[in-house]
Amino acid sequence: MKKYLLPSFFILLVFQLCNAQELKSPNGNFTMTFSLLNDGTPTYALTYKNKAVIKPSKLGFELKDDKNSLLNHFTVSDTKSATFDETWKTVWGEETAIRNHYNELAVTINQKETNRKIIIRFRLFDEGLGFRYEFPEQKDLIYFVIKEERTEFAMTGDHTAFWIPGDYDTQEYDYTESKLSEIRKLFKSAVSSNASQKQFSDTGVQTSLMMKANDGLYINIHEAALINYSCMNLDLEDKTFVFQSHLTPDAQGNKGHIQAPSVSPWRTIIASYDARDVLASRMTLNLNDPCKIEDTSWIKPVKYVGVWWEMITGKSSWSYTNDFPSIQLGVTDYSKAKPNGTHGANTKHVKESIDFAALHGFDGVLVEGWNVGWEDWFGHEKDYVFDFVTPYPDFDVVEIKNYAKSKGIKMIMHHETSGATRNYERHIDKAFQFMNNHGYDAVKTGYVGNIIPLGEHHYSQSIINHYQYCVEKAAEYKIMLNAHESVRPTGICRTYPNMIGNEAARGTEFQAFGGSKPNHTTILPFTRLMGGPMDYTPGIFEMDISKLNPANNSHVNTTLANQLGLYVVMYSPLQMAADLPENYNRFLDAFQFIKNVPVAWTESKYLEAEPGYYLTIARKDKNSNNWFVGNNNGVKPRTSTISLDFLEKGKKYDATIYADAKDADYKTNPQAYKITKQKVTNKTKLSITSAAGGGYAISIVESK
Ligand code: NOJ
Ligand code: CA
Repeated sequence: MKKYLLPSFFILLVFQLCNAQELKSPNGNFTMTFSLLNDGTPTYALTYKNKAVIKPSKLGFELKDDKNSLLNHFTVSDTKSATFDETWKTVWGEETAIRNHYNELAVTINQKETNRKIIIRFRLFDEGLGFRYEFPEQKDLIYFVIKEERTEFAMTGDHTAFWIPGDYDTQEYDYTESKLSEIRKLFKSAVSSNASQKQFSDTGVQTSLMMKANDGLYINIHEAALINYSCMNLDLEDKTFVFQSHLTPDAQGNKGHIQAPSVSPWRTIIASYDARDVLASRMTLNLNDPCKIEDTSWIKPVKYVGVWWEMITGKSSWSYTNDFPSIQLGVTDYSKAKPNGTHGANTKHVKESIDFAALHGFDGVLVEGWNVGWEDWFGHEKDYVFDFVTPYPDFDVVEIKNYAKSKGIKMIMHHETSGATRNYERHIDKAFQFMNNHGYDAVKTGYVGNIIPLGEHHYSQSIINHYQYCVEKAAEYKIMLNAHESVRPTGICRTYPNMIGNEAARGTEFQAFGGSKPNHTTILPFTRLMGGPMDYTPGIFEMDISKLNPANNSHVNTTLANQLGLYVVMYSPLQMAADLPENYNRFLDAFQFIKNVPVAWTESKYLEAEPGYYLTIARKDKNSNNWFVGNNNGVKPRTSTISLDFLEKGKKYDATIYADAKDADYKTNPQAYKITKQKVTNKTKLSITSAAGGGYAISIVESK
């Protein structure tokens, strides 16, 4: 492990060019230039291989009730440069060790008339740039309110973008591929309905934003280490192609309450002519602090099944009874209620799930709808909606605990907050203690509906603080956390690896709510997954949802082989086999891949990648010499040709290939797959055709 932090006189990376400073990436491909305009406005620009990625772009803040703001009239009072090179070990991840290598420039700028200073810290990696604002301790800038952050990202042209509508409350949208200049006209059609949503501009988009320039340069904009700050959207000026940062407001319309000393999240720009480099980048993680949990031995990747898809499809219900028009916690008496006969989380059924999990080697079982309140959980912006400790009369928490233990299965807790963040904080200690007492070491939380306190948004600063509070509180109780409908991740899982999952995007549930675009999962790794893993809940084998619930005509827009590929393509230490046992029992030969695929890896290779079109990734198991390959394909059938040169030289392996059959198609023939076996070595090349909305999966097991 190497680590250097050298003062500026050792390094010739930073040049003072008449009021401009230049910083180069370790390999010299990127150059970042910082300069002040004549009126003292700070700006930065970025080039890759001598071509502009970001044209000169302004930096700064508009402050509330402060005519001077932090926008201009700055002079540079100090610059410091450094280089850093360290390799750190992951608790879980796409690999076991990650190199963190960058050159750094910290520019201190002073506003003379207000006697205020800020530091802008730039870190230039071989993959791109991260920069943040720092507010050091000082007499004349202690408490202040951000009216808007004024960070620009000036694009060089009308790039192609893979975007979702900018929103203060949800990321559960399908992606639209379009030119930047087309966003405005496509905006309305890109907005689908959600339990909580608020757009702010018809050229607003979210990060992580993936783009491709006409010359083939891939550009990704996101943020890292979003802590005690509001989440950033981007608003496009579509004549000039300049993105303007747009922070999420609080209930009063303010965008940030800051107390110095403090720092902003990092703004990140990754660029390469090879899309695979974007996937391989660990810049977002590297810009987060090292792990703050001392003993991480209790944090373990989890493969799980659940009493879940049946409720999502409407085959069964979260609620226990139809007797009550409304529920008041502590007042409503469930003991006299008539069961509705559709309640999924009943002891007998949960035990069946535990049996299925144990039979097929899963680690855990998630059960939703186990606690009172679901009859009236959503749509009324209730504060006291759940208490997270009172089971329904037909859910015997002790019997289930003992049964799961006897079968070697861990139960996964579910805490739907219905957006009532204050109510969750009110109950969190008791709820986590209840988990400790009953053998639950992981929790799935959720934030469906408008946030309470009313007026706050899912991505407002104080709600970001709520999510962080829950992660840190969970760590105190040695609980792994997977939040749904929370803010999209920004690499905080490096610091708190008990955050083993997040949703914060359009997950598989939407396949039962009308369907997602067939190329959705060829985009997610370039966008949502840039900040951390997703609890995408793959593994659906029955695409016709009316077979589960005749009243639901939704269709899952992928082939079955595509669903298998997801276990490798969509990296996550938390993977669900989301379909019902009866559907797996119909296709046991394909289910074998889900049983075999690991959730912990030592190494990952990005074999093919084009956002929106195709993705092929290979990963090596952490506990053996076996490799697993996954492919996801967009709407055009395509033959993928890959070399297995990543296998160990001289070794022989048995490959099992789960591919789309010739006539497979996500719409008309999704369950047509074929399984073939062959011997392979590191000299083998494979050509496999994926259907429209298709994909493939391969297990490569060392020959005995
Ligand atoms: C939305 C979540 O994404 C889903 O997984 C969960 O089942 C429901 N909310 C209910 O909490
Ligand atoms: Ca959701």
